[in-house]
Amino acid sequence: MEKYDPRDAIIEEKFRKIKFSVLVGSGKGGVGKSTIASILALSLSRKFSVGLLDLDVHGPVIPEIFGLENVEPKESKKGLIPPEKYGVKVMSLGFFTEKEPIPMRGNAKTDAIKEILAITNWGPLDFLVVDLPPGTGDETLTSVKYVTNSKGAVLVTIPSKISLSVVERAIRLFRELNVSILALINNMAYYSLGGEKISILGEAHVEELARKYGIDEVVEIPIDPKVSKAIESGSLELIFQSEAYVKTGKIVEKLEKLVEKQS
Ligand SMILES: Nc1ncnc2c1ncn2[C@@H]1O[C@H](COP(=O)(O)OP(=O)(O)OP(=O)(O)O)[C@@H](O)[C@H]1O
Ligand SMILES: [Mg+2]
Repeated sequence: MEKYDPRDAIIEEKFRKIKFSVLVGSGKGGVGKSTIASILALSLSRKFSVGLLDLDVHGPVIPEIFGLENVEPKESKKGLIPPEKYGVKVMSLGFFTEKEPIPMRGNAKTDAIKEILAITNWGPLDFLVVDLPPGTGDETLTSVKYVTNSKGAVLVTIPSKISLSVVERAIRLFRELNVSILALINNMAYYSLGGEKISILGEAHVEELARKYGIDEVVEIPIDPKVSKAIESGSLELIFQSEAYVKTGKIVEKLEKLVEKQS
């Protein structure tokens, strides 16, 4: 039997104030999960109150992407207050680990995830975007289990056969966990050169995979130097000029309808 953990009730209480959580996952590492999570949070923040939670236990990069690497979250009676930038409240396991490697195993990872969920005081939010740990292991399961409010997943792949077979495992996992998949993102799908789309990372059939699992939204995002520059430099204003920002608009519309239905 699972041991009683007083944090469980605290986590549930915190999530009662958050209308909807968007879980950004991939199965495979390095496909642009943190990038997409950041773009989605920025897009949503134009209209809504938004938090971005980085649960990547081994490589939490959200503080760097947001240029918040030297910031420490402030404490309050009700928990830690996430620093805010570009209108997004940001919390990351990275705020507590600096640049040290994080040699965590099984239980310690689950514990770190539960701890950050319990201590963060988001206050009321429309959306919480969650950058999930890579893979389909325990950390992902814990993250999905303890995000206790209404939620949906956005899964990210690149157009290579290898990435697609791994994202299929993630799709199956989310279905088993009864989390609906709002969109499949084919990131770095092509590079635009003089109006022509050039395949660089592969031409795997992302649409076909989406159809097989009844996912009705596939969003193709090109390889875009504006995106990599914004992510690398921590100057996220550039994102608003990117095609990626325009393309994620469809997901934002879908999310908007979901919270409208709720209220
Ligand atoms: N559409 C894009 N155009 C250009 N560069 C991109 C794009 N998407 C992601 N990148 C770049 O690819 C790199 C990896 O992206 P990111 O860190 O978001 O991947 P990840 O899936 O979160 O990786 P990890 O598994 O390590 O968490 C980053 O340097 C990012 O700037
Ligand atoms: Mg990442």
